Amino acid sequence: MSRSLALRAGGALLALALVAAPAAAQQQNTQGQGTEGPAGGAPEVQSVVPEVGDGRGGMNNQVPETTEKQAPTGGERPAPMREVAPTPAAPITAPPPNTARGDTSADEMELQRTLRGGVIEGRTTLPDTAAAILIQPEGRDWREFRNQWLFWIGAAAVVGTVALLALTFLVSGRKRIEAGRSGRSILRFGVLERVNHWMVAVSFVLLGLSGLNITYGALALRPIIGPEAFTALTFWGQAVHQYLSFPFVLGLFVMVAVWLRDNLPTKVDIAWIKAGGPVAKGHPPAGRFNAAQKALYWFTMGGGGLVALSGYVLMFPFTVTDVGGQQWAHIVHGLMAMVMIAAILGHAYIGSIGMEGALEAMSTGRVDYNWAKEHHSLWLEQETAKAREAVAPPSGARAVGAD
Ligand code: HEM
Repeated sequence: MSRSLALRAGGALLALALVAAPAAAQQQNTQGQGTEGPAGGAPEVQSVVPEVGDGRGGMNNQVPETTEKQAPTGGERPAPMREVAPTPAAPITAPPPNTARGDTSADEMELQRTLRGGVIEGRTTLPDTAAAILIQPEGRDWREFRNQWLFWIGAAAVVGTVALLALTFLVSGRKRIEAGRSGRSILRFGVLERVNHWMVAVSFVLLGLSGLNITYGALALRPIIGPEAFTALTFWGQAVHQYLSFPFVLGLFVMVAVWLRDNLPTKVDIAWIKAGGPVAKGHPPAGRFNAAQKALYWFTMGGGGLVALSGYVLMFPFTVTDVGGQQWAHIVHGLMAMVMIAAILGHAYIGSIGMEGALEAMSTGRVDYNWAKEHHSLWLEQETAKAREAVAPPSGARAVGAD
């Protein structure tokens, strides 16, 4: 009796459990479609755009409109909710890097205009006080100069000059000594003049090459020799550029001392230019230096002086100028350097393959008598007059046995 009672009670409990389990499960599911959690246990995704009709409650918690025919619900059951695909979030694209920004917003343009000549500066305890400058609008102009103008002006000056000289050589060939070599020579440059000239020339060439590497190396050289070799070359190039500035400047001072007097302009220069200068028919008279050589001398002194001054401003940054001064120093240095390289290329051409008999003036120091007569006739007259004077007996002296 008690056994059958126990069995009956167990069966009743099991039946209850079987009925209760799906009911509980349904209850859970119905709650899931409500305001609290994700439906059907789906992971909750936070959308960054305003969501409509996703069943999340609030104003947007509406059943989406549909044109589909709804099955009759018998009044109690809510219409089945249409599955709505989550609205894809628009990808957030990072702003382009500062340097590549093409358009400037109106606000930014306004700020730039207001700041012209000024800076936005913070405070710093670093020894480098320039590190406190946050915005300096002229920096953009300077960067454009460095990356665009200097790049193209330099390329045009250097490549253009080389092309022009090559063309000149192809068309006119080497300028010969018309009368041919005489076999006699005359001293044109002493040892000091020659040693100093080559000191300046070698420094200039190495300064020019290491400088051009700063401007064009990353583009023209790095892809060929590779980044490691390029880094080493640029490191040593930088050292060369700084240390060779000293012999270069010293040489310029010596040039002032030894050549200034012979490079002062005279009436002869005007006549030489009027006669056609370097392309004149015949050989217009010239002193020790003709007008073109004098122009190159003054250009080298002025340009070399500017390049040296601006170079030292760059070498010791913020010693005598602020950031604007540094930018100006760089502009002057870069432009002057490019123009000087072009001018000195022309000088080196005439002094070597362009004109017969010219190079020996700076190698042995002596030039052929006919060369001197054709290119520097007044100087030759002066030199021969001096030589005659040197060997002539002093005035009033009488030859031995004259009486
Ligand atoms: C006293 C002589 C000179 C000094 C003190 C000097 C110094 C400097 C310094 C400090 C720089 C900046 C290097 C850098 O950006 O890190 C520079 C760049 C440069 N220098 Fe000179 N330099 C002198 C002469 C010359 C000469 C004679 C030439 C040309 C033949 C020259 C051509 C250049 C060039 C092309 C640059 C690179 C400009 C650029 O692309 O930014 N320099 N120089």
